[in-house]
Amino acid sequence: RSLSSCNTNKTRLGLTPTLRNIIETEATGTEVTISGWIKSVRVQKRIAFAEVSDGSTLRGIQIIMNDPQIAAGLSTGCSVEIKGILASSPGREQSKEIQANSIYIIGNADPETYPLQKKRHSMEFLREIGNIRPRSQTISAVTRLRDRAETGLHKFFHENEFVRIHTPAITANDCEGGGEAFQLATPGSKIPESDFFGRKVNLTVSGQLHLEVYANAFKRVYNFNQSFRAEPSQTGRHLSEFWMVEAECAFVRKLALLLEVEEQMIRSTTQYLVDNAGSDLEFFSQKNEPLAKLVQRLTDRKPYAQITYTEAIDILQNADPLQKFAFKPEWGQGLQSEHERYLAAKHFDGPVFVTDYPAEIKPFYMLPNPDGKTVACMDLLVPGPCELLGGSLREHNLERLQTSIKAHGIDENSLDWYTSLRRYGTTPHGGFGMGFERYIQMVTGLENIRDIIPFPRYAGKCLC
Ligand code: 4AD
Repeated sequence: RSLSSCNTNKTRLGLTPTLRNIIETEATGTEVTISGWIKSVRVQKRIAFAEVSDGSTLRGIQIIMNDPQIAAGLSTGCSVEIKGILASSPGREQSKEIQANSIYIIGNADPETYPLQKKRHSMEFLREIGNIRPRSQTISAVTRLRDRAETGLHKFFHENEFVRIHTPAITANDCEGGGEAFQLATPGSKIPESDFFGRKVNLTVSGQLHLEVYANAFKRVYNFNQSFRAEPSQTGRHLSEFWMVEAECAFVRKLALLLEVEEQMIRSTTQYLVDNAGSDLEFFSQKNEPLAKLVQRLTDRKPYAQITYTEAIDILQNADPLQKFAFKPEWGQGLQSEHERYLAAKHFDGPVFVTDYPAEIKPFYMLPNPDGKTVACMDLLVPGPCELLGGSLREHNLERLQTSIKAHGIDENSLDWYTSLRRYGTTPHGGFGMGFERYIQMVTGLENIRDIIPFPRYAGKCLC
């Protein structure tokens, strides 16, 4: 039984078809050849069963071996090629199964050491086996959802005439001014890091400033990139490397317009998931009623709730006396995650925009409101990861921007390329950034963001 003797049914690219393709397109009674990894094996006296998956479906497919000898040498984790007849399955969870005629083991997996068993493993354990965890059902569902959500986002932006910009990973600015940028070093190189580029550089925390450059030429732009933050907090919603989708629109004077774009982006991407990854979404929401309700809420036409920061403080200060916050909510202070959680998960029980935060706790580029105290900005809070996105109108007046840069203690010269945009055909504009992992965290209800990204990086961990 060699590989070449297996007469595989090929897809258009000449690659072997996925299980999804076979289950959805092939009729029962057809002879098929499938390939994948064994999830479980059960050998009885007269019959043997195995489950095989290849990442294309939530549940893989059941293999029936009427001759148990075919199962000889099979163990969980093996890679296999199986030839057999497609049959309809009496099982509730699967529509089809395969009556196997032959099984070719391509790669063995030592049953003594293979870490993934049929039983439920904790997410913490799965994190420790980063090279094998993509074969677990949860991580495989998350991975397909990430893929579809990215497609859904690109679809939304292209349908609305945004141009995707590839903003750089290496930059000399710290857009958010949070002091969380990873500095680049060149140890071992003959050229010291400050001479290589002629200045100190770091990994980007956000592509916003670069997007603003392109928004002032292309009107509507977006990116989908990695962001890096030396974020020491060990929380379930922070990573050192995460993906962000950012958008920037020129000729925008009103914050309400940005809220509308954000809401439509989330609604349309979530609807895309419902339409194209429904079974993966249901895997997470079927035993989680609040999550099913949230997904429904994200896609329905009713506008998301909207309050100002000042109203948020008022709600928090008058929260149910049983609700004891570790941090007292006070005007002028940032909202803590416990405050955000109360607003999104309890008070509004759904997505809520919080707008117009105090200028003092926000970055230099935000447009001040006429009240002189607050800036025209928003955070979208949601049950789960709490802060899902942040954005603002941008200061487009040169003098006022320069004053703000100085007031924030930033070296003006380092941002010449950015400020000088305001000299040449400046436009009122604004934009936002949404944490991609936080979005997936919201629709899956998973508690820890480390389970959303294929290779999580966080303080103390860079596994492979
Ligand atoms: O609120 P942030 O810091 O905003 C910006 O970076 C703006 N420059 C974006 C823009 O207007 N173009 O980050 C935006 C979002 C947050 O709301 C959050 O969802 C996510 O990025 N985020 C993180 N996600 C995972 N791990 C971290 N350490 C994150 N920090 C921010």
